Amino acid sequence: METHVRLLLIGDIVGKPGRQIVLRAVPGLRIQEGLDFVVANAENAAGGSGLTPDIYHELISCGIDCLTMGDHVYRRREIYGVLETEARIVRPANYPDEAPGRRYTVLRARNQVRVAVFNLLGRVFMPPVDCFLRAADRVLAELPDDVHVILLDFHAEATSDKQLMGRHLDGRVSAVLGTHTHVPTADEQILPGGTAFQCDVGMAGPHESILGRRIERVMETTRTFRPTHFEVATAECRIHGTLVEVDPTTGRATAVRRMVVSQAEAERLSELARKKD
Ligand SMILES: [Fe+2]
Ligand SMILES: [Fe+2]
Repeated sequence: METHVRLLLIGDIVGKPGRQIVLRAVPGLRIQEGLDFVVANAENAAGGSGLTPDIYHELISCGIDCLTMGDHVYRRREIYGVLETEARIVRPANYPDEAPGRRYTVLRARNQVRVAVFNLLGRVFMPPVDCFLRAADRVLAELPDDVHVILLDFHAEATSDKQLMGRHLDGRVSAVLGTHTHVPTADEQILPGGTAFQCDVGMAGPHESILGRRIERVMETTRTFRPTHFEVATAECRIHGTLVEVDPTTGRATAVRRMVVSQAEAERLSELARKKD
């Protein structure tokens, strides 16, 4: 049996700049960090909002094992088919049962350990969804008993929702990591029951921006109330993500670490992967 599984969650990938840095860095990151399983939030991957089938396949083929989504999951309707048929993507589990897509998935990590992934939405500044605590309980009740490594991407605005979820699932899942705010929080920790926790892992995309969008566009709309197109910014791309090491026999986290990959670091990682080929 493997002694540990190394997981990475990459925060919301924003538009083309976000995709480009992720595509360049992930193969090298897998080597450098000895990653067994990589998850990324893709709700902003297509032009800053939603996901398309082509982008789904592009992200999966670069070495991402599973994509999670969020409040922008259905922004591109062409993704419905992928959500219904592909195993490597989940939609928020507290959406109605009739909503397209799966509520959780169970996949094999590179070292053959089975990993469950699910995604939930918070309820502050979010569309009205079912109680996230009850929805989490429902997913856990449906998971096979022999799956111990479980990752939740909790897509929520409020740190209070996120802390509640961490405490609710402490000792029952391997990691509760947050997305949606696009800003990483400095509270990564292992809770007393063995669950790795962080309110938000951040985003992959242009840092010189307002949450990935062009500063002047957001400023203009905020000042004048005149709607503008919130174009994706381009400058200074970074990947924010969080690494978790899990004991696969117990499902408990043994380490958690925040990670930032700069543009220069991404180039070095791409070189590393090229040499290894
Ligand atoms: Fe987002
Ligand atoms: Fe979001």
